Amino acid sequence: MCGIIGYAGTEKAAPLILDGLKRLEYRGYDSAGIATVSDNELQIKKDQGKIDEINNELTLSDMNGNTGIGHTRWATHGAPSQNNAHPHTDNENKIAVVHNGIIENYSELREFLVGEGYEFQSETDTEVIPHLVDHFMNQGKKFEDAVRNTAARLEGSYALAITFVGEPGKLVIVREQSPLIVGLGADESLVASDIPAILPHTKRVIILDDGEMGVLTAGNVEITRVESGETVEKEIQEVDWSPEMAEKGGHPHFMLKEILEQPDAIQNTLRVPEGELGELSKILEKADHIYLVACGTSHHAALVGKYALAKLADVSAEAIISSEFQESCVPKEGDVVFAISQSGETADTLKAVRVAIENGAKVVSLTNVVGSSITRLSELSCLTRAGPEIGVAATKTFVSQITYLLLLAFHMARKRGQISGEEFNDMANQLRGLPDITREVLDEVNTQTKKIGEEYTDIKRGYFIGRGIGFPTAMEGSLKLKEIAYVHSGAYPAGELKHGPLALVEPGTLVIALVTPGPARERMIGNIEEVRARGGKVLTLAPEGDKEVKEHVEEVISLPQVLEILSPLVYVLPLQLLAYHMGVDRGHDPDKPRHLAKSVTVE
Ligand code: G6P
Repeated sequence: MCGIIGYAGTEKAAPLILDGLKRLEYRGYDSAGIATVSDNELQIKKDQGKIDEINNELTLSDMNGNTGIGHTRWATHGAPSQNNAHPHTDNENKIAVVHNGIIENYSELREFLVGEGYEFQSETDTEVIPHLVDHFMNQGKKFEDAVRNTAARLEGSYALAITFVGEPGKLVIVREQSPLIVGLGADESLVASDIPAILPHTKRVIILDDGEMGVLTAGNVEITRVESGETVEKEIQEVDWSPEMAEKGGHPHFMLKEILEQPDAIQNTLRVPEGELGELSKILEKADHIYLVACGTSHHAALVGKYALAKLADVSAEAIISSEFQESCVPKEGDVVFAISQSGETADTLKAVRVAIENGAKVVSLTNVVGSSITRLSELSCLTRAGPEIGVAATKTFVSQITYLLLLAFHMARKRGQISGEEFNDMANQLRGLPDITREVLDEVNTQTKKIGEEYTDIKRGYFIGRGIGFPTAMEGSLKLKEIAYVHSGAYPAGELKHGPLALVEPGTLVIALVTPGPARERMIGNIEEVRARGGKVLTLAPEGDKEVKEHVEEVISLPQVLEILSPLVYVLPLQLLAYHMGVDRGHDPDKPRHLAKSVTVE
């Protein structure tokens, strides 16, 4: 997904911007570019491809000037190409713009600008912006006023960073429904779409709100409302992520680093303030209907949450995929939409949140990013404390989301008298033991899953089965196998096998069976036998000491005995590692799976 970084300071801007762009690579992109201002000249270098390739070809770091902007593009309007890559300029090459988001009325604006004599070089929606700024400057407006007038004409979502040769040393930035943060250094100011891009320079940030713009110069930042021009006093926030936290920490890939960080992610999420759980419970308890709205991996966490709330607290909630929310749900006043999104920026979830608000429903959220768009629209925003997740495929944010939702279910169950104080303490203690347990599991299953992955080099498809709370975990294992190993896969409630998927099983077909602790165990063994009777090859995840399961299957990954409700936190670990090793073995980059993006900001 698109990324923005900009710099106004005393150092040479291009190398810093290049470094920032690399830190934004994890968002997924297809082209990149930089613009700098020096000696009354705008320099632009951009192309399609990976940043390193573009740098090798165009030497981005050579560009002169102490002010500049950079962009990683993920195509929406117009294919990936040099012309469509950002920055975009006006016809006289005075104004350069980088943009995240989508300008919805760009056709109309383009028509107007063509009528005014402007020539377009790209197929992007973005290119209307530099021409509009130029149009207003030609009417005698100053740079920032021209940007203000431009923003007033734009419809849609946009985070913008803009330079102008006539005012070197200055960046003008605007935010509307697309994140933008400002980093404050001693004699430098930075702007970025995402915190990791600026971490090496500063930990002091200002988070822009929708409808705000900023003027950045070396060491000085002024924020105003776009519409009124009034100055806004912004809070300066300290970010506690070190640059190292956002780097690979000695591992070959972010994904592996993040899988191994899961015990810490669980531990940190367990630090949720009790008051926050109380407040959230109160809102949920009063709800006529609860929708758990999320996409991808977050949806699987939502399914675990739904199960835990129902089984433990007798609270019924509907887990719905965000993009289906507006198609199939009718939120009303009295309903609560609980948005779950690690990034807090996913367009589908954001849209569901907006639909909910428009219909008078309350919105609460669980995200991993402070100040993200979803948190800003929420009446109550709760935080998983997984730290930055760079790998495109979610791992540690998944276990953090589950940890949070389990704490919530325990809290509500106790409050509603569904469990005794003793049961509550037992479950809470067992959950507190999970960081140590998951650490041991990761140590043990890393080598085993690598070996199993090697045995499966020729596997073209694999099916996952589970029951109860094991089913969302099976779905997550299947998603990981698709995302990272590009192996066709599906996940089914094991009881559904006989209603269709069993027809796919032939000698050698891989079926991964999750035998989670609990009453469904016997039935799972029956389902495994159904597969084996058709020649299927079954890899089973089962509690250690379950001798009977071992008699039924070829290969077992033994996992510690934990409460059924806690099992997703343990069972997902070998599934993530298996997908990781199979992806690496097949020569894929697990951090940047093809066609996918970390933060999907289009619907
Ligand atoms: C993208 C990512 C997935 C993620 C999903 C939802 O598709 O590739 O890993 O699960 O978005 O993201 P969110 O930030 O809303 O949790």
